[in-house]
Amino acid sequence: MTRGFNTRAVQEGEVKDKQVGNVITPIFENSTFITPNEASGAAVDHSTGKPFLYTRVGNPTLEALERKYAALDMVDSALSFSSGMAAISTTMLSLLKTGDRLLSVSDLYGETLTLFKKTLKSFGIETDFVSLDNLNKANLDFRKYRAVFTESILNPTMGVSDIRSLGKALQETGVPLVVDATFASPYNQNPTKLGASISVHSGTKYIGGHSDIILGLAGFSSGYMKEISAMRKNLGGVPDPIQAFLGLRGLKTLGLRMKAHNENAMKIASFLEQHQQVVKVNYPGLKSSRYHEIAEKNLTGFGGMISFELKGGISGARKMMSRMTVGAMAPSLGGVETLVTLPSDTSHASLSPEDRKALGISEGLIRLSVGIEEAEDLIEDFQMALS
Ligand SMILES: Cc1ncc(COP(=O)(O)O)c(C=O)c1O
Repeated sequence: MTRGFNTRAVQEGEVKDKQVGNVITPIFENSTFITPNEASGAAVDHSTGKPFLYTRVGNPTLEALERKYAALDMVDSALSFSSGMAAISTTMLSLLKTGDRLLSVSDLYGETLTLFKKTLKSFGIETDFVSLDNLNKANLDFRKYRAVFTESILNPTMGVSDIRSLGKALQETGVPLVVDATFASPYNQNPTKLGASISVHSGTKYIGGHSDIILGLAGFSSGYMKEISAMRKNLGGVPDPIQAFLGLRGLKTLGLRMKAHNENAMKIASFLEQHQQVVKVNYPGLKSSRYHEIAEKNLTGFGGMISFELKGGISGARKMMSRMTVGAMAPSLGGVETLVTLPSDTSHASLSPEDRKALGISEGLIRLSVGIEEAEDLIEDFQMALS
């Protein structure tokens, strides 16, 4: 029987040495290991099946993180990376080669968009971009593509991918579906259980959870291990063992934190929705969201990310954000602290106002990463800042 999420979060993956009696995994701050290691019962690197050799290939602290994450995302195997972008780029480069076509959505995270539009294109890999609604119909000619890439919840419009429908359609074609589930976290979604082949995460966000590391993870069935680990070894995007240790520690409380993020965000989205200064709230947990039904089918919780627009437009948004005392103005997301940002100033600043409009991002749209502070304090802060 599979143990509950929090039990797995605490117990799985830890490296324990009975002779030392350590309760938690040590930081193996080693670049290299004795080779050949002929000790009886020598520990084996799960990516090679051989004793540890060199940290760019594998390291016990990284592997502890990978095993714990795999147990939470319900995947056979996983690898950790130096950033979410390293996880995405390494995974995609292991799947694609010159002449292949990729299918994706037009409103991806900006750097992923650049990876597909510029970097992969320069290697002769073309990407077709479609709207999320079009992709969610799951009736495109998928056989033309070597892979399909989407995000669980899109930033900052909070559209939700129908991984269940896509996964079903793609399994019939054998084309792998890669899902960036950063906004959902393994607590709210296990993409491979819904039919995806690979899930990727910016571990910088909910997995780390404390706005103190840059980290990436990818989870998959064991058949992908050889290719993805070879590409990681080649591109070199492994995390430092200290970073991996902090990711491992973050995962232990992921369930507790996500429960608080989910609950707080639902309360704040409902509060904002009825506020007279607010024109629109995007949150998949609200019945008013166009994606509520899809979210219910694909997510076990709606997460901590909300976006909303004020009657006062961009100047009203700037004024409100500067008045907040609990929430801070900063990009990034998924930490214990509440953060607000204007995508038109930060994550989507490189797009023209017309391109932003086409993606549903008005100049005054505020993106909110709801933290785990008391909901009452956050609501009071919004009440004051909006008044
Ligand atoms: C959805 C999503 N994917 C990937 C990334 C990239 O992650 P990292 O900054 O860890 O490279 C981000 C970063 O904001 C993100 O929001």
